[in-house]
Amino acid sequence: MKVAPSILTANFVRLEDELKSVEKGSDYIHVDIMDGHFVPNISFGPAIAAQIGELTKLPMDIHLMVEYPLNWIDKVNFPTTEFITVHAECHRFAESIRRILYIGKKAGLCIKPSTDVEFIKPYLAQLDLVLVMGVEPGYGGQMFIQSQLKKIEELARLKEEFGYRYEIEVDGGINVSTAKQCKDAGATMVVAGTYIFNYEDREERILALK
Ligand code: DX5
Ligand code: ZN
Repeated sequence: MKVAPSILTANFVRLEDELKSVEKGSDYIHVDIMDGHFVPNISFGPAIAAQIGELTKLPMDIHLMVEYPLNWIDKVNFPTTEFITVHAECHRFAESIRRILYIGKKAGLCIKPSTDVEFIKPYLAQLDLVLVMGVEPGYGGQMFIQSQLKKIEELARLKEEFGYRYEIEVDGGINVSTAKQCKDAGATMVVAGTYIFNYEDREERILALK
């Protein structure tokens, strides 16, 4: 299982130390960018994301929770950006996927708990990552919505059937038991915020998730 700690729950005053504390055992750093419109919260913008990229060895997994991703994609095109993920519920998401691939990054598409896999089926062949939200996007520390497991199973089935390349990532409500459920359903990557950052021994939590 690949693990991406979500920096949203970190202490931003001590960003460098926080980043160092989750490097060992992790595969990516998950970076949530919110605009206060697509979700009812604001996190930080590209300037802070750039600093995160400079302070860690981990490649960045950028999750754009914004209404107009086309305005932001080029601004988060950093040397260590690996994935840029946009939401299937935002404006011009198909064009956004093309833009991400055009600038040479891996493209992800995310679905909120109320969006079905059926809606994104036509785009699956182009994707490097499909992100299934385990909670309503916007805040860390919520409980995993069990009905999302069926979507992971469906995405794993389609991936196998058509030979697609995408990672199946799950974000929100991840702890050691929900990560196991996601793994059994076919997920290849998990994002975890509070489970890692609200615990002193972060390495132990990362290894538990792996
Ligand atoms: C929620 C964000 C998540 C969040 C996860 O909208 O996309 O990345 O940080 O936090 P936890 O792991 O606490 O649910
Ligand atoms: Zn996220």
